[in-house]
Amino acid sequence: MNHPSKMHNHFIITFLIMFFLYKPSAALRDGLHGGWKPIPDVTDPTVVSIGEFAIDEHNKESHDSLKFSNVIKGEEQVVQGTNYNLTITAAYGGAEKNYVALVWDIPWQKFRKLVSFNGPV
Ligand SMILES: *[C@@H]1O[C@H](CO)[C@@H](O)[C@H](O)[C@H]1NC(C)=O
Repeated sequence: MNHPSKMHNHFIITFLIMFFLYKPSAALRDGLHGGWKPIPDVTDPTVVSIGEFAIDEHNKESHDSLKFSNVIKGEEQVVQGTNYNLTITAAYGGAEKNYVALVWDIPWQKFRKLVSFNGPV
């Protein structure tokens, strides 16, 4: 009489343990894969200002003189603030080329940092 109900409890406990073990591993999986999501609208003013910022910072750091044209694609990752991975078209002299910039933005701290800048790609 008691036996089936004990079995039942055992299954519930096993299920709960697996549930709680699964949650952190899902978080870890998302962390490892970065949790990057495509940016649906690359003409969004915030995205454009991040792109302009990336070109400005790159010009300052590398004494370059690229001119921002537009962002052609990008992805974002919510961390403490947001990481932006943008593919940006910029002109050097007459030639337009694409560059990939990683920008870390924390709007409520007015913090924005160019993490990496690569290209032309
Ligand atoms: C950023 O995007 C570019 C182009 O899509 C890609 O090659 C690169 O791996 C991405 N970088 C990160 C950190 O996700």
